[in-house]
Amino acid sequence: MDVASITALIMTLALLWPAIMSQQSAMATRNPTEDYDRRSSAWRQSNWTTHPNVLKEWSSAPLALPATEADDGFNLLFQSNRKELSNFPVTFEQPLPPWLIGNLVRNGLGLFENGPRTFLHAFDGFAKLASWKFFGNSTVLFSTRFIRSDFYKASKEAKTIAPYLLFQAVAPPFGYVEKLQCLVRGLDNMNVNVYAFPNPKTGRAEYAALSDFWILYKIGIENLTTVHRVAPKLKNRQQTTSSWLQGTGFLDLLSSAHPLPEPGTNNSLTFLSSVAVLPWSRNVISLIRVKSLKRRTVVAQWNVGRVPYMHSFSVTATKAILLASPFYVNVMCMAKKAEPFSCLDWHPEEKSTLYIVTLKSGKVTTVHLDNVFSMHHVNAYDVGKQEIIMDLSTYPSPDFVKHLQLHVMRDPLARNSFDAHARLKRFSINLKKLEVREIPIDSNPRPSLATLLDMPVINEAYRSKHYCYVYGLVLKTDNVTLSNIAIVKKDLCSNGTGDRAWQAPGNYPVEPWFVARPDARVEDDGVLLLPVLDGNRRSTYLAILDARTLTLVNRAELPTNIPYSLHGRFFPV
Ligand SMILES: *[C@@H]1O[C@H](CO)[C@@H](O)[C@H](O)[C@H]1NC(C)=O
Ligand SMILES: *[C@@H]1O[C@H](CO)[C@@H](O)[C@H](O)[C@H]1NC(C)=O
Ligand SMILES: *[C@@H]1O[C@H](CO)[C@@H](O)[C@H](O)[C@H]1NC(C)=O
Ligand SMILES: *[C@@H]1O[C@H](CO)[C@@H](O)[C@H](O)[C@H]1NC(C)=O
Ligand SMILES: *[C@@H]1O[C@H](CO)[C@@H](O)[C@H](O)[C@H]1NC(C)=O
Ligand SMILES: *[C@@H]1O[C@H](CO)[C@@H](O)[C@H](O)[C@H]1NC(C)=O
Ligand SMILES: [Fe+2]
Repeated sequence: MDVASITALIMTLALLWPAIMSQQSAMATRNPTEDYDRRSSAWRQSNWTTHPNVLKEWSSAPLALPATEADDGFNLLFQSNRKELSNFPVTFEQPLPPWLIGNLVRNGLGLFENGPRTFLHAFDGFAKLASWKFFGNSTVLFSTRFIRSDFYKASKEAKTIAPYLLFQAVAPPFGYVEKLQCLVRGLDNMNVNVYAFPNPKTGRAEYAALSDFWILYKIGIENLTTVHRVAPKLKNRQQTTSSWLQGTGFLDLLSSAHPLPEPGTNNSLTFLSSVAVLPWSRNVISLIRVKSLKRRTVVAQWNVGRVPYMHSFSVTATKAILLASPFYVNVMCMAKKAEPFSCLDWHPEEKSTLYIVTLKSGKVTTVHLDNVFSMHHVNAYDVGKQEIIMDLSTYPSPDFVKHLQLHVMRDPLARNSFDAHARLKRFSINLKKLEVREIPIDSNPRPSLATLLDMPVINEAYRSKHYCYVYGLVLKTDNVTLSNIAIVKKDLCSNGTGDRAWQAPGNYPVEPWFVARPDARVEDDGVLLLPVLDGNRRSTYLAILDARTLTLVNRAELPTNIPYSLHGRFFPV
């Protein structure tokens, strides 16, 4: 947090002091590619099921784990693993495609408690990176390492969970003074995603670990080293109030763990939600152009009455689209509790709002649509000048986020008792009439299993363009047991007839990443890379699926298990 933010925060605290006080008590040889493509190995088919017609499977024979089969192994996803490894050679069961060269880096959760204290919400686990370096030969080197954030170091030093802002509380809870420290220090645990930013000076990419907040941590993907914390400055912020307040009066709070490339440039885009902390300043959402890790400029800035929680957004060839659902930050509550996830108010009766920003001019168009909530936008593209197609992984409310508590995730009864299905929805935005209309994506009124996906990934070459395939995760595939998890492929171009799913009992996959085969002529020619926890063997393996058929084509056992991994990317060399 920079000086201005601290000043702003102190001012807020001063303003809210009475309220705080009153709450105190309450509180692969010859042709390696050919070899690779030959699919004969028995293990590939053995216990795995790939469903050519998901819809049929889904409606007639649920992909259920026998009710008696324990899914204890699932809990390993939410148990700490302190083990760190550097360049550990892992062996794939089949030859690797020679074109698969690069570094798959993933971010996620590694430690759920420290000393006497434990986190309550799964999203608060200490950030732990995992990487797989592919050299185009049979060697793959695996590494895993915690991010040495200020939070991690302070916690290690103090032999407990140090007071830094978290999504939710810890047990035993922070005291009053510690809560103030949480507010001042902000969120420092970058456990959500990784991204590459260009460095125009060196011409080489710089990598960072990200969360839903404005700060980030620069990391080295060669050895997963933590370089330093970065609090990017915004130089051309327009002031809504007097200029002497330049940079103050705002608490730069929420941003996105999912930056997107700005088409036709080497820039990326993200957003920033700034909370007004002085009576005469107003809440502002800004669309930000990211030129490098640290250099950022404002594309557009607009005032909002309340600050919505947004996790991701969409970009077409010409526009950025932000979906603000009526899920607002309660500033008073934040000041009192210092727990963002406890201080978000959901208003089911209110409409959602789309902010459509023209990238060239910065013009902002506002369109309302029926109440809907989304964590992950899939993709969006322009159709002529008057229409945008936007795909979202939606939920009727943000309730499921609240269920992602450690005690719920670790208890089969509790975790099986909530609706864990997302619903992929396609919207057509008419820019002339300023209307939003939902377009059906399944020919059958009953959604295909693949339609229930979240954690969407696409072939990045189709980002901001017309595309057909989205891959993702579906939990609770039998609609009974949360840990029945499938990797799915949704076909958006032929009414879902190309939908596929892949799953096996007692195997828990996380979000995949799509790597295209070089010279690929079709969108889905490539592989999906993903860690899968084998609950029976209590170990994780890296799986390689053929993205066209969604069949398992290769895998490598890892020397240790990986707790829940949220997002990642493959950085080609
Ligand atoms: C298939 O499942 C059986 C029992 O569930 C197990 O013994 C066997 O090792 C599995 N085979 C593979 C290739 O995973
Ligand atoms: C694979 O390539 C890497 C990097 O060029 C090299 O260090 C390694 O020894 C190679 N492994 C084999 C088995 O050839
Ligand atoms: C990681 O690599 C960098 C150089 O790329 C080096 O400065 C640093 O010491 C290495 N860190 C570890 C932990 O090996
Ligand atoms: C993007 O970066 C590459 C490599 O640095 C450079 O050759 C290219 O001209 C840049 N493109 C734009 C649009 O700036
Ligand atoms: C799952 O079950 C719930 C009730 O138990 C039902 O409301 C819901 O529609 C079912 N979901 C699907 C996709 O069939
Ligand atoms: C998908 O189904 C809808 C409604 O059944 C139909 O109008 C449309 O032409 C179909 N599209 C394709 C590509 O088959
Ligand atoms: Fe995310």
